[in-house]
Amino acid sequence: MNPQEEIQREETLDPGDWESMRALGHRIVDDAMDYLETLRERPVWQHAPGSVKEHFEGPPPAGPMPPGEVYEEYLRYILPHQLGNAHPRYWGWVTGSGTVMGMYAEMLAAATDAVSGAFSYMSNNYVEQQVLDWCKDLLGYPRAASGLLTSGCSASNLIGLAVARNTMAGYDVRGKGMANPAPRMTLYCSEEAHSSIDKAVELLGFGSESLRRVPVDGSLRIDTAALKEAIRRDRENGCHPVCIIGVAGTTNTGAIDDMHALADIATQERCWFHVDGAFGAWAAISPRSKHLVAGMERADSLAFDLHKWMYLAYPIGCILVRNADDHRRAFSLTPTYLAHGEGDRGLTGVDVPWLSDYGFELSRGFHALKAWMTFKEHGTEKYGRLIQQNIDQAHYLARLVEAAPDLELALPVSLNVVNFRFTRPGIPNARLNEVNKKIEIEIQEQGIAVPSTVRIGERVFLHVAVTNHRSRKEDFDLLVSEVIRIGHELV
Ligand SMILES: Cc1ncc(COP(=O)(O)O)c(C=O)c1O
Repeated sequence: MNPQEEIQREETLDPGDWESMRALGHRIVDDAMDYLETLRERPVWQHAPGSVKEHFEGPPPAGPMPPGEVYEEYLRYILPHQLGNAHPRYWGWVTGSGTVMGMYAEMLAAATDAVSGAFSYMSNNYVEQQVLDWCKDLLGYPRAASGLLTSGCSASNLIGLAVARNTMAGYDVRGKGMANPAPRMTLYCSEEAHSSIDKAVELLGFGSESLRRVPVDGSLRIDTAALKEAIRRDRENGCHPVCIIGVAGTTNTGAIDDMHALADIATQERCWFHVDGAFGAWAAISPRSKHLVAGMERADSLAFDLHKWMYLAYPIGCILVRNADDHRRAFSLTPTYLAHGEGDRGLTGVDVPWLSDYGFELSRGFHALKAWMTFKEHGTEKYGRLIQQNIDQAHYLARLVEAAPDLELALPVSLNVVNFRFTRPGIPNARLNEVNKKIEIEIQEQGIAVPSTVRIGERVFLHVAVTNHRSRKEDFDLLVSEVIRIGHELV
């Protein structure tokens, strides 16, 4: 084979025809913009038929397919069957809604295949450090704190509790592991805290039995007297209480634990204070609601998302740790092939921290870019107003519910979550539970709106978590009238 033939045999994944690939790119951006601009005109969600599922059962594609045809498959089988969380009437569970600039940022990050994690002298890391600094400023955390952007609050809780474990164990937990015959370490959170806390506790080897689920008060906030009693009992029984976990905005009801009280107890009891503020942390930037999370800034570690209430496209969460040394000590591990810190030349030089020293991942995507670009585009004051707007909308919905004879509010709105149910006199509770579950399913299947349901005590409620910058008051009017219509059809 002559050298010319050899060159021709060498392959690449770059386009054979750059011009047609460029045209496809323009079309993709146009279609995505049309999709976002006309969201409101479409059903919130559409049940994927069996034929769609079958489409994804074939073998790997051994040979090539023209790029335009690949995209046609996306348009036909993937785009119409999304969760729907970008839609103005999606309020199920607690989910964000994305932005146009965020979409551009994801494309730009992919254009350079930006790796963020190790390495220092590169703009990705400057951007991430700046986004972390902005989060600290906005949430009242000191600039000297360390932090990391994550794939979400589950990862953030895991990292925060890993730092707590390493700092509070009182022995070399990284070396000796959890089999050390030290007293059992115990952690405390309310009955309403998120399951990602249980997962983190299990993954870190504490054992789920070490997580004390403390009862809640009438507003579903942790009962601080019961918390103190649980710690006292554990000490008496030879356990080692290491961490108190507060929730700023529970998934079910948006309840916010008393942050100052928890911070005080953590200080008295020499415990780490971790806050799961997945979405509720951002109440801190809303002009009229920041008092709700006062004291959260006293946490030793603060976990939250930016893909829920800061409306950024998935995935992006964050963990901040007050003492950067504690944070680094829990994760830093440097094999020779990742040696860094000698001088300021080359990719192994250091001017900002290597982010891989602050978490369990080495390679990470450039999550920071979408935060950086959208915060700049709108300004953080607008985010504060939007968060307040969602809180106001939740109260608006609660008022509509209170005014409707066939609807019942579960409890007063504490943040941005409204739980309510359809009810008629004389119908037993078990039947009402069935009816409300069916209303959830019907309203989803008819593409009208997506609420979810939660069980509070013995009763099932429709659950509306307003973390959506596209929702308008009329969307809540429609929700209420449709719940009543479907409720009447069902009973
Ligand atoms: C209070 C709370 N904590 C943690 C999480 C987990 O966050 P993520 O889904 O980003 O992993 C959630 C998710 O809804 C949540 O509501």
